[in-house]
Amino acid sequence: MKLLLSITLAVFAVSSMAGCGQQEESSEPQAASAHEEAEFDEGSPQHERHELMEGVRDGAEVVGPMLKGEVEFDAAAAMQTLETWKDVGEKFGDLFPAGSEGGEAAPAIWEDREGFDAALVKWQDATGAAIAANPQTLDEARASIGPIFDTCKNCHDTYRIEEEEEE
Ligand code: HEC
Repeated sequence: MKLLLSITLAVFAVSSMAGCGQQEESSEPQAASAHEEAEFDEGSPQHERHELMEGVRDGAEVVGPMLKGEVEFDAAAAMQTLETWKDVGEKFGDLFPAGSEGGEAAPAIWEDREGFDAALVKWQDATGAAIAANPQTLDEARASIGPIFDTCKNCHDTYRIEEEEEE
């Protein structure tokens, strides 16, 4: 079951990536896109970190409603999200080289790299602890996964510029 879920997610990730950043050849005039994704080339750190954070958000959309009690708790799906967050946590720090400012990344990342790295470590630690806790009930998930959301906010407060109309 867990394997099946991973495969489904992998397939989804691949198929959604295929459409990402590819401009269809068309004679239609290019409508100016308000979405900042269009600013950055595929393969650029800005594009990559945006994609990773969208994956993080997708995971939050699975786990968030569970923790709120809006949907039934599903331990395997929760673990899948935690694994995604762990993967992103390992890659994310490498995607802010000098000169890659832009998107929703705040200048504070480059001005206070130590603080940013510390915020990243908090997130990695919280995620690692939740994986180790391996929550099997809603109460266990609230206790172990809930604190991770504080570390998202902790980083965003200083290191992310939130766009007004972000969904
Ligand atoms: C160590 C810092 C850090 C942590 C921790 C972090 N984020 Fe982010 N997040 C960022 C930065 C920086 C951006 C902007 C990336 C960019 O556009 O270059 C961002 C962007 C986003 C976005 C917008 C996606 C986009 O680019 O359109 C969402 C949604 C998001 N984060 C959700 C989360 C959630 C949910 C968590 C926790 C589970 C989390 N983030 C943890 C730093 C962080």
